Amino acid sequence: MVELVRAHGGSPVPGWWDRIRPHSLGWVTARVAGTLVGFVNVAWDGGDHAFLLDTKTRTDHQREGIGTLVVAAAAEQARAAGCEWLHVDFRPELRPFYLDACGFRETEAGLVHLPSLS
Ligand SMILES: CC(C)(COP(=O)(O)OP(=O)(O)OC[C@H]1O[C@@H](n2cnc3c(N)ncnc32)[C@H](O)[C@@H]1OP(=O)(O)O)[C@@H](O)C(=O)NCCC(=O)NCCS
Repeated sequence: MVELVRAHGGSPVPGWWDRIRPHSLGWVTARVAGTLVGFVNVAWDGGDHAFLLDTKTRTDHQREGIGTLVVAAAAEQARAAGCEWLHVDFRPELRPFYLDACGFRETEAGLVHLPSLS
């Protein structure tokens, strides 16, 4: 995970995944010859709603269908776990990925950056 986060220009914080994992419904990984190349985390409200977070494909394996596959597996497992809705938010340039390749439908959503609240 540390290597995957670094590959995307992120700054992995030691213990990040250990802290997040207990709040997760589940997660999907993709590996090639033992190397982690794809990841998505599924957060959960404990009921009908699941939320995709941190979808990542290793840079040298992008555009090979890995992201689509891990998201499809996450959706199938969330459905099997009894969830009714799977949410995701994303930057505009990723519309072809989430809406076209992964099959999400467009919806209104809102976001607040809490530290910016005065
Ligand atoms: C977004 C991301 C997970 C996609 O993973 P991927 O394994 O490359 O995706 P796929 O190969 O399954 O792509 C399927 C289709 O989605 C679209 N797509 C994929 N990545 C895209 C991108 N960066 N921009 C626009 N469209 C994209 C394309 O239509 C693609 O089909 P094509 O390769 O035939 O053109 C990957 O680019 C990534 O890790 N990005 C950096 C981290 C990030 O921004 N994550 C999203 C957090 S919300």
